[in-house]
Amino acid sequence: MRSVIDIVDLSVKELDELMKTACDIIENPEKYQEVCKHKKLATLFFEPSTRTRLSFEAAMYELGGNVISVSSAGASSAAKGESVADTAKTVSCYADIIAMRHPKEGAALVASRAATIPVINAGDGGHNHPTQTLADLLTIYREKGHMDNLTIGLCGDLKFGRTVHSLINAMSRYDNIRFVLISPEELKVPSYVKKDVLQKKGIPYLQTTDLETAMPELDILYMTRVQRERFFNEEDYLRLKDSYILTPQKLRNAKDDLAIMHPLPRVNEISIAIDDDPRACYFKQVLNGKYMRMALILKLLKEAGTI
Ligand code: CP
Repeated sequence: MRSVIDIVDLSVKELDELMKTACDIIENPEKYQEVCKHKKLATLFFEPSTRTRLSFEAAMYELGGNVISVSSAGASSAAKGESVADTAKTVSCYADIIAMRHPKEGAALVASRAATIPVINAGDGGHNHPTQTLADLLTIYREKGHMDNLTIGLCGDLKFGRTVHSLINAMSRYDNIRFVLISPEELKVPSYVKKDVLQKKGIPYLQTTDLETAMPELDILYMTRVQRERFFNEEDYLRLKDSYILTPQKLRNAKDDLAIMHPLPRVNEISIAIDDDPRACYFKQVLNGKYMRMALILKLLKEAGTI
C-alpha cells in the first residue's frame, strides 16, 4: 500500500505531475467535485494544527468525499495508551485514507506499516512535513515559473523546523539550486540533513547568522518560527525566539521579485507591515496546500484502486 511519509517517497516526475494536477484543479474545479464520492478521509491529529488538518478536510470535501477526525491526542484512545499501530489498524476499518500528525518522529511510518489504507504524514515531530513541502513547491512554481536556478534562503529555526528539512530534500532534486542557511548557532540545520542530502548531492550551501548580508542574492526567503514545543527548556526558547524578525527595513536590499515564504503559524518572524508587500507569499502557500493535498489524495486513492 503506497503511503507518503517523506517527500522523497515521491519522485521528481511525481512531484511535477502533482503540481500539474493541482493547477488543473485550480482551473477546472468542477471536474473534481465528485471524484471521491462515498470515500472517507480520516484526519488523526495528535498535535495542534490549523492549516494542515483543515486543508486536508477542505480538500476531501471539495473532491466530494467525507471526513472523520481525531483533532487531539486527548480526544482519542491514545490517551488510554493505545499504540499508533493499533490506532492505524482500527481506522483502516472505517476510512479509505489517513492523514496523521504526531509529536513523535517516525509515528507516521509506524502507522503506514500497520494500516491497510494509504497514510499521509501530516508532520512527525521535528522530522518531516511532506505535504507542507507540496504546498511550498506549488508556490515556488506559481511565483517563479520554474523550479531550477534558484538561491533559497532558509531562516530561523532550521534545527527543529521539519518543513525546512523536507524542503531542502525536495529542492535539492532540481538543477542549480543553492541554499543560504540563516540561523542562530544553536538552531542550525541538523548534520544528518547536511551530510545525507546537501553534501551527498554536492549542493552548494552557505551557513550564516546574518540575514541582511544574505538578502540581496536571494530568490526565495523562507522564514520559520522557533519551535517552542521542541525545546527542552523555556529559557533557551525565550533567548532565541526573536532572533530574526523580518521588517520592511530589512527588505531594502532584496530583489524586486523575491518570494517571501513562511509555512505559518507566524509568531513574530514577519512584521505584519510586510503582509501587503506583493512579494509576501505566505497566505498563497496556505491555499496552494489545499490544492496539492487534493492532488495527493487523488493520486493515492487511484493507486490503491479505491477510486
Ligand atoms: N504549516 C502548518 O503545518 O500549519 P499548522 O500547524 O497550522 O497545520
